[in-house]
Amino acid sequence: MTRPYIYITRKCSEEQLAPLYEVADVDMWPEEETACPREILLEKAEKADGLLTMLSDSIDRELLDKASHLKVIANLAVGFDNIDVPYANSKGIVVCNTPDILTDTTADLTFGLLLSTARRLMEASEYVKQNQWKSWGPLLLAGHDVHHKTIGILGMGKIGQAVAKRATGFDMKVLYHNRSRNEQAETSLGAVFTSFDEMLATSDFIVCLAPLTNETRELFNKDAFKKMKKSAIFINAGRGAVVNEEDLYNALVNGEIAGAGLDVFLNEPIGAEHPLVGLHNVVALPHIGSASYETRYSMMNLCAMNIAAVLNGNEPKTKVVI
Ligand code: DGY
Repeated sequence: MTRPYIYITRKCSEEQLAPLYEVADVDMWPEEETACPREILLEKAEKADGLLTMLSDSIDRELLDKASHLKVIANLAVGFDNIDVPYANSKGIVVCNTPDILTDTTADLTFGLLLSTARRLMEASEYVKQNQWKSWGPLLLAGHDVHHKTIGILGMGKIGQAVAKRATGFDMKVLYHNRSRNEQAETSLGAVFTSFDEMLATSDFIVCLAPLTNETRELFNKDAFKKMKKSAIFINAGRGAVVNEEDLYNALVNGEIAGAGLDVFLNEPIGAEHPLVGLHNVVALPHIGSASYETRYSMMNLCAMNIAAVLNGNEPKTKVVI
């Protein structure tokens, strides 16, 4: 009997993929930093029983229509906006993601990005590395305080809650806006639910952790930035398309807000020529929210176990249910 064929769209740890090697023939794009080209992905998908995909792979109708053997897609991310989940499900294909195991790692990065932006850590580090540090000065590379300020979180899911927990350690007041109230965040962390507009107007730090949906696309646009305090710092560790980047650029250049820390962008990857990257008050990261060795290995292993479960006729641990 022929074994199922699995294609993995980026080089992953074979040790973490062991559950897959036991049940299937595994093929993998051999590079770590270069994405599998679209034409190769389409060709591999045609014969694949399972795909282990990255958030940068577009798993759309074109691909799903070609993938006549496909039974399961495991996305190495908690977000799944790169996959047409309803269409996949309509074809009987199970879609899985990697929630929970990346919560604290992504919250650490998000809060680190907030601190780095507020206290100008990247600029300060470059200042030393570029040999510019000639003397100590009272306002040399002065930034903004984080402690005792107000943080407003859009998207109070598990990562939002973990960011709120970190914020309470800095004696911050926590506001949030979400599709529905999060009673646990309110009772255990003292988070206060507000309207979106009130959160924008009263927060010192606005942190976007919302998933990309039709409702959140370009939610942070010129109207939203105008409602923020001039001293506000905007942090995005959700998805780039939740922001209108041109409006963000204008808000930063016109002094409508004070700074931005961005781990995600509309069209990733971006280069040094991207207008936002050139701004001194922007900290730009290459979508590394969950990128610790421990977490990325756990994510690979969870994807492998999910694919193996579906191939064995079992329920995967973390199936996307929409
Ligand atoms: C994800 O996994 O969807 C996040 O973007 C974490 O980096």
